[in-house]
Amino acid sequence: MQGSGDDARPIDAVPLEAVSADAGPIAPDPVDTDPVDAGPADPGLVEVPVGVDPTQPSVARVYDYYLGGSHNFESDRVFAQRVLAQLPDMAMVAQENRAFLRRAVAHLCALGIDQFLDLGSGIPTVGNVHEIVLATNPDAAVIYVDHDPVAVTHSRELLKDVPGADVIGGDLRDVRAILDHPLVRERIDLTRPLAVLLVSVLHFVSDDDDPADVVARYLAAAAPGSHVVISHASEEGRPDASGAQAVYNQGRSPNRMRMRTGAEVTALFGGLPLLEPGVVRIPLWRPESPDDVRPGADRYPGVAGLARKG
Ligand SMILES: C[S@@+](CC[C@H](N)C(=O)[O-])C[C@H]1O[C@@H](n2cnc3c(N)ncnc32)[C@H](O)[C@@H]1O
Repeated sequence: MQGSGDDARPIDAVPLEAVSADAGPIAPDPVDTDPVDAGPADPGLVEVPVGVDPTQPSVARVYDYYLGGSHNFESDRVFAQRVLAQLPDMAMVAQENRAFLRRAVAHLCALGIDQFLDLGSGIPTVGNVHEIVLATNPDAAVIYVDHDPVAVTHSRELLKDVPGADVIGGDLRDVRAILDHPLVRERIDLTRPLAVLLVSVLHFVSDDDDPADVVARYLAAAAPGSHVVISHASEEGRPDASGAQAVYNQGRSPNRMRMRTGAEVTALFGGLPLLEPGVVRIPLWRPESPDDVRPGADRYPGVAGLARKG
């Protein structure tokens, strides 16, 4: 595992400095040097945590760009455009994933879960987990975890007046460091049921880092009645998704990507009983209404499921 110790500590403490979002020239990609449209002009200055290299794309900021957010830099937009050239409906894919996250969290709230550990939580956007959870139960606790300094900084800013929610910087593969973090120990009671959210993040955990073991270690620490939510990119039946994965795995990439088949994602749950309908294409996981399911949902390049620890 790379960089986990470094990622876990300094992120919490970095100050902000204002720099131009158009942060200078981008080194040519050693593999793909085709000129690309870098997307809409940035509205102006954005805040960058000290120590962040805005010329190096990041998974969190690229995803923010897919979702139409403004916390991304030229390097992120250039990278995103390479992905979009392979998978033009990536914005819809990201929105469907967010919609799944909201449905899963609402379902967990309805089951009475009031503690959420959101691993790889990303840059805040519409319909954040704490907004859903705290609207249902103001006494609930939400801890966001991300290893991206921009995601952590913007989350912290958003949450500074929200007593029920907080964010920590850390690498989700460092299970012990996350669970031992003082904020987690203070806010999360591991003797009571907890929801562990791993939404659109485990495809950034390589086989070498054994994502099934990572999931199992969080659940081993959690009380019976806890739940785990996973959504995951999948290239099954989608050659264009394989093309997108290839972009992440070549040249100037923020993170290597390992898409997995439905069977491989099912295995990440470690045999825990899955709530209906099991591991399915993301838009097909308990849609609020049949009308919400777009044509082609059965070919969506990602799967999701929710399991309960007995
Ligand atoms: C595609 S975004 C998903 C964000 C959010 N979970 C969602 O579904 O909308 C993936 C996020 O996981 C974070 N991430 C990737 N690998 C991580 C790791 N090892 N530890 C913590 N965060 C990680 C990235 O920084 C990014 O913010």
